[in-house]
Amino acid sequence: MSEKKDKHSFINDALEKRKQEHQFRTLKPLENQGGAHIIKNDGVEYINFSSNDYLGLSNHPELIKRSNEFTSKYGVGSGASRLVTGTFSIHSELEKKLAEIFNAEEAILFNSGFQANTSILPAVTDRNSLILADKKIHNSLIQGAILSRAAFKRFEHNHYDDLEELLKSAGSERYNRIWIVSETVFSMDGDRNDIDRLIEISEKYNALLYSDDAHAVGVLGEKGLGLNYGKDGIDISLGTFGKAFGSFGAFALCSKEMKDYLINFAGGFIYSTSLPPNVIGAIDAALDLIPEMDQERTQLMKNVEYVRTEIQKLGYDTTASDSQIIPIIIGDEQETIELSNQLKEKGLWVSSIRPPTVEKVASRLRITLSVKHTKEHLDKLLKELADWKRK
Ligand SMILES: Cc1ncc(COP(=O)(O)O)c(C=O)c1O
Repeated sequence: MSEKKDKHSFINDALEKRKQEHQFRTLKPLENQGGAHIIKNDGVEYINFSSNDYLGLSNHPELIKRSNEFTSKYGVGSGASRLVTGTFSIHSELEKKLAEIFNAEEAILFNSGFQANTSILPAVTDRNSLILADKKIHNSLIQGAILSRAAFKRFEHNHYDDLEELLKSAGSERYNRIWIVSETVFSMDGDRNDIDRLIEISEKYNALLYSDDAHAVGVLGEKGLGLNYGKDGIDISLGTFGKAFGSFGAFALCSKEMKDYLINFAGGFIYSTSLPPNVIGAIDAALDLIPEMDQERTQLMKNVEYVRTEIQKLGYDTTASDSQIIPIIIGDEQETIELSNQLKEKGLWVSSIRPPTVEKVASRLRITLSVKHTKEHLDKLLKELADWKRK
């Protein structure tokens, strides 16, 4: 008998390839220093410029208090999925409150944005459907589209003539339905889509519209309710609780029929233990605070304006960033890593984003700003970036 092939060799082969391409990733355990946007790694302190905790709510006393209250009252786990015994009154009440505040017909909770995107898209499409998505959508939406087995085409980033061309060539008969998928704030570039134009196009071609508002809710739009807020014609509006909301989980805003449909057909909703009470408590408290945080949002946007303008003055390319996510395009992968390491040496944590997350020539630093950053934090970042440019 011939010798058995090593069935585990694919692991080492793939990891070796990643190492050779300088794309091998590892985890770095960090400690959060009480919400001042300082993290510790191996005992060393860094100013965090890579967190999505935009409003600093992850350490807010009200969120911690309500999270603890819900734990004391309901325990640490929900014990089952929503359709079994995992719908407590707190889950239903939170959905009702979300729908009211966001002025939507219904809201439905998911355990994370990733879970929502990978279970909603396969639920609302089948082999006879077509998904037309912006080229820069988040990986969770890509995975959802692949899992759906629908035909999946991408239009050039924010290029709506291209989208219309695809819609025209799709014809009205070939597919049972067409979904247009985009993000209000793109996670890696920090630029925005034109949601009004997308609504117009989806109506013109009788397509459905899926708009991921993950990086806008809490931060942008009226009362921080996101960029989908107040817009008719969006069939699924997705928000997450892991970013500006400071905790964990996600929600979709939709019609009553769509919610009933998702309860019956979205695998990730049906076959996963529901969010635990402590998380529901934290979200509930964040929801009370966020509409009242205009002052914090104004401060955050001042920080954004200041940092982006100064970075551009230094001669860096921040692409079309129009939010608290500010990329600095370096291009070369190795140089990006060097700059990120150099900043780390100076006490600044700014993650590098490289292929396969972005295209080969678009390696970058991804700066995310929070209202918790002080002027000193921002100036330190700008000084180090200026020094690097002078080198
Ligand atoms: C646009 C977008 N959608 C969804 C997600 C996933 O959300 P979550 O972190 O809640 O899984 C992310 C995460 O970064 C995102 O950027």
